Amino acid sequence: MEDKFKNLRAEAEKEIRSAGSADSLEVLRVKYLGRKSFLSSFSGGMSKLDAAEKPIAGRLLNQAKQFISRLLEEEKSRLEEKEEGLDPTSPASKTDTGSIHPLTLVIKDICRVFERLGFEIQEGKETEDEWHNFQALNIPLDHPSRDAFDTFYLGLPASDKGRYLLRSHTSPSQIRLMQKRKPPLAFVVPGRVYRPDSVDASHSFMFHQIEGFAVGKDITFSHLKGALMYFAKELFSEKAEIRLRPHFFPFTEPSAEMDISCIICKGKGCSVCKHSGWLEILGCGMINPKVLKACNINPKSYQGFAFGMGVERIAMLKYGINDIRLFYENDVKFLNQFYEV
Ligand code: PHE
Repeated sequence: MEDKFKNLRAEAEKEIRSAGSADSLEVLRVKYLGRKSFLSSFSGGMSKLDAAEKPIAGRLLNQAKQFISRLLEEEKSRLEEKEEGLDPTSPASKTDTGSIHPLTLVIKDICRVFERLGFEIQEGKETEDEWHNFQALNIPLDHPSRDAFDTFYLGLPASDKGRYLLRSHTSPSQIRLMQKRKPPLAFVVPGRVYRPDSVDASHSFMFHQIEGFAVGKDITFSHLKGALMYFAKELFSEKAEIRLRPHFFPFTEPSAEMDISCIICKGKGCSVCKHSGWLEILGCGMINPKVLKACNINPKSYQGFAFGMGVERIAMLKYGINDIRLFYENDVKFLNQFYEV
């Protein structure tokens, strides 16, 4: 009896595997599982078997039925896939892989420019204390930006370095690095900063800055200007020009704001540059000796320059984006335009 079933299964397998079409599979289904099949008549004759033989026969019958049904199913789906033109050896269809965020792209581009000049990339802290965010940077207690309105304070117990806060600029990273490393130093520090501004097309309570600074025995304002000129030409265009306007920052002396020739109208005057031909890009200056002193660097032997720029503003100018909120809304249609291979 067992041999009989074995042969039946082998024969069925051979025939099903080479059926080649849905119609011939149906013929084979009737042949092996239909009313007039061997299995069906065997099942009908089971009652005549000895009591000892019945369970063995039942098991063989069920196994054969399952085996043949499964074969028929398998072959059916294989034929269907073939008909749909599915080729298991062809490469998988493309899935969504995401893209690099435009702000990340701009941060990378800027950092790369300064890396070529020998600057090292570092990260600072997003939560700071009053001493690092203000005092060490020579921002006096009564300076308006210390007002709670301009800084997010954390509801934590204060330390001996004052209250904790979300840094309102990346400049405190200058302090941390100058305390940790010995000059000569040259760092760029990208990161998030926070200010309680109400959100509109050009303001956000969180945005990104890149801080840069260099400290050495004979660092001069010319080095600052040279580095910034190289940066502007590398990031925007060989034809970009820069202009330094006197300004005030407590942590640099002298201080300046840097403009680049408008990248939209090339300096002729347009609505983006408010018809001035120039775009304000960053703040900079020579590190105030008081700041060096706060970091235990002797200002008689060392000098340095520093600059800080807003990443969103640069990205908006570079890509012609007119609303800062687009960066944070996670709209795939917007983000997909910045695919980098
Ligand atoms: N920290 C300044 C700001 O947030 C920018 C700056 C950095 C200016 C370094 C000068 C030197 O506006």
